[in-house]
Parts: sequence; structure tokens; C-alpha cells
Amino acid sequence: MLNFEKVSIHNFSKVPEPCRFCLYWQTKGELQNAASKKDVEKEELKWLSIVEKTFGNCIEIASLNGTTIGFMQYALAKYFPRVEDYFSGPLGEDAAFIACLYIVDKDQRRRGYGTVMLEKLLKELSGRGFKAVETFARMGSENKKTTRLIH
Ligand SMILES: CC(C)(COP(=O)(O)OP(=O)(O)OC[C@H]1O[C@@H](n2cnc3c(N)ncnc32)[C@H](O)[C@@H]1OP(=O)(O)O)[C@@H](O)C(=O)NCCC(=O)NCCS
Repeated sequence: MLNFEKVSIHNFSKVPEPCRFCLYWQTKGELQNAASKKDVEKEELKWLSIVEKTFGNCIEIASLNGTTIGFMQYALAKYFPRVEDYFSGPLGEDAAFIACLYIVDKDQRRRGYGTVMLEKLLKELSGRGFKAVETFARMGSENKKTTRLIH
């Protein structure tokens, strides 16, 4: 069974790699390649403290038998500048945008955990009053830029 934990600036170190050192959605590419992991994490924490205050919880991790296997990041699209690089859209201004729903351990994929994570997140967002949830789905592989906007 999966256990879920909300992530704030206080327990951010629990976020698994590579998500802990990833600013893909929060930037438009600046920093990501040149900066050290420490610098990236510092920026990530800066972003998180702003979003926590204005949007509320926006990161959640999922663990299996004590090991973190999944990561979810979501907020209003305006907090993720990278969305502007995608041709799919436009995104709703008041919809929750799921920037990332990721199972870090490849051996744990295709076992139904992603479905459980998504269902948990949709329930939570609906409880927070969101009438719409959107995401981009990559076609083929996780590195492809071809996307579909999903409502
Ligand atoms: C995408 C991901 C979150 C799905 O979670 P999962 O636990 O593997 O998926 P599930 O076992 O719950 O399967 C859910 C459905 O998605 C389908 N699916 C899962 N991975 C898929 C893939 N790579 N391509 C196509 N379909 C896929 C399953 O077949 C299943 O469909 P069904 O209900 O019709 O049978 C997970 O595989 C993952 O993190 N993949 C790599 C990263 C990625 O692409 N993340 C998204 C962008 S950051």
C-alpha cells in the first residue's frame, strides 16, 4: 500500500532524485544545467515557500514500505513558467495544473501505483475546490516534447 506525505520547505529533503534537483517547470531552462545541485535546491525552496503561501501545498510524495517511489507537483499554471514553451493549451487560469506525476523507480512502474497517485491527487484537488485539473501528457517517452493537454 502506498503512503502519502505532503512536502513543505521543512521536509523537502525527502523528495527523491531527480525531482529534488529539478527546476524544469519552475524555470525556462536557466540555472538547470549550469548550477550546482545546492543552487538548484535553493531555488526550488524559494519557489516552494512562495507557492506554499499563495496556493498551499503543491508537492506530495508516495512511499512503498518506507521507500519513496513517487513524486507529484501541482499548482496553478502561472507558477510554472515552462508551460509557455508548450504548444498545447491554453491552460485554464483557475484550473490546477499537474506539472509532474512521476514514479522514480522504474521497477515500480506499470503496477498501478501511478493510478493510485493520480486518484489521490484528484480527490485532494477536488476537496480544495478545483473544478478543473489539467496536465500535459508526453507521447511515447518521458523525454519527448510532443504533448497532449488533458482536462
Ligand atoms: C507515467 C507513470 C506515472 C504511470 O504510472 P504507472 O504506475 O506506471 O501506471 P499504472 O500502472 O497505474 O497504469 C495506468 C495506465 O497507464 C498506462 N501506462 C503506464 N505507463 C505508460 C507508458 N509509458 N506509455 C503508455 N501507457 C502507459 C497503463 O497501461 C495503464 O493503462 P490502462 O489503465 O489502460 O491499463 C509512470 O509510469 C512514470 O512515472 N513513468 C515515467 C515518467 C513519465 O513519463 N512521467 C510523466 C511526465 S514527468
